[in-house]
Amino acid sequence: MPFLTWDGQRVEMRPTETVLDALLRVGVPLSHSCRAGVCQSCLLHATQGAAPQGSQAGLKPTLAGQGYFLACVCRPDQDLTAELPGPGVRTITRLVAKSWLSETVLRVALECDEPLHHRAGQYLTLFRIDGLSRSYSIASLPDGMIIELHVRVIPNGRMSNWLAGTANPGTELTAQGPAGNCFYMPGAPEQPLLLVGTGTGLAPLYGIVRDALGQGHTGPIWLYHGALDERGLYLVHELEELAARHPHFRYRPALLSRDGPLPQVLQAAHPKLAGWRGFVCGDPQIVDVLKKRLFLAGMASREINSDAFVPTASPG
Ligand SMILES: Cc1cc2nc3c(=O)[nH]c(=O)nc-3n(C[C@H](O)[C@H](O)[C@H](O)COP(=O)(O)OP(=O)(O)OC[C@H]3O[C@@H](n4cnc5c(N)ncnc54)[C@H](O)[C@@H]3O)c2cc1C
Ligand code: FES
Repeated sequence: MPFLTWDGQRVEMRPTETVLDALLRVGVPLSHSCRAGVCQSCLLHATQGAAPQGSQAGLKPTLAGQGYFLACVCRPDQDLTAELPGPGVRTITRLVAKSWLSETVLRVALECDEPLHHRAGQYLTLFRIDGLSRSYSIASLPDGMIIELHVRVIPNGRMSNWLAGTANPGTELTAQGPAGNCFYMPGAPEQPLLLVGTGTGLAPLYGIVRDALGQGHTGPIWLYHGALDERGLYLVHELEELAARHPHFRYRPALLSRDGPLPQVLQAAHPKLAGWRGFVCGDPQIVDVLKKRLFLAGMASREINSDAFVPTASPG
């Protein structure tokens, strides 16, 4: 079996083990969350040997080209020497404000030491000082040093309850990213756009719709925000105002208790989606179902952009 070298220590890999498994086994407390190659918390840099291509899926080409890889999905087939990401990949941020957008959704504003050069809709991975890491989509436009996140505070959720409670203005967090391909690309201003999200899946969509309008998108834009009932909605007033100012933008809250399941709401309202571009964000299972719905209605798979909020896999 290949050897993994970490901080001078040589560790023989066990069959089927990932680099993350091997490092945790020998007591290296490497940050991780999804264990599925999505959140990028476990990003590492290979200084010797090549990580398999599959462990670089979803990384920016510049990072992949420099030998970065995701430890949770990396099963090396040759000896590998790895280290934590170097400067330029992570930046220090400070919490500057937090406020409730609804009973369970917290708006968190972070100030960055350096501009992040993000696109609205991409996500960041935040690291607390003890290494706890979680990813959050960026709801703000790339027009300043303040980044806005929408964090759903879940029962027993370690990062979300800490952000809602102990974390105060001035608290430092390390941010990695931006990452992800779910953002507005100019170039087809007349193309109809369909934005669909559940829960805090609204965060990236709120950024994407304002980005598209700001870049002069002229085609129809529909935004559906799915929730169980009215308590799950937020930014209703802001979105209604945006729709009033831009007649080609339509905002549709979709309540399970009132309107039925979101895929059926879409099927009734948009049975034919050939030529449209779609953005789907939120709970991974719902994202999967909605992507299939869009595809079956005729939307080309290359036009379907998505971000699945894959939860934490195990204590980490
Ligand atoms: C690319 C990406 C983007 C994301 N963007 C956002 C975002 O914009 N806003 C946001 O709020 N979250 C987002 N997430 C999810 C986020 O990273 C965390 O997983 C989430 O905030 C829970 O973290 P926690 O530490 O509070 O809870 P944890 O301590 O991780 O979880 C505590 C318990 O709650 C369960 N749990 C985790 N998530 C949920 C859930 N959604 N519903 C019910 N139970 C759950 C866990 O299985 C565990 O048992 C995103 C995830 C990814 C991968
Ligand atoms: S990408 Fe490795 S833990 Fe999420």
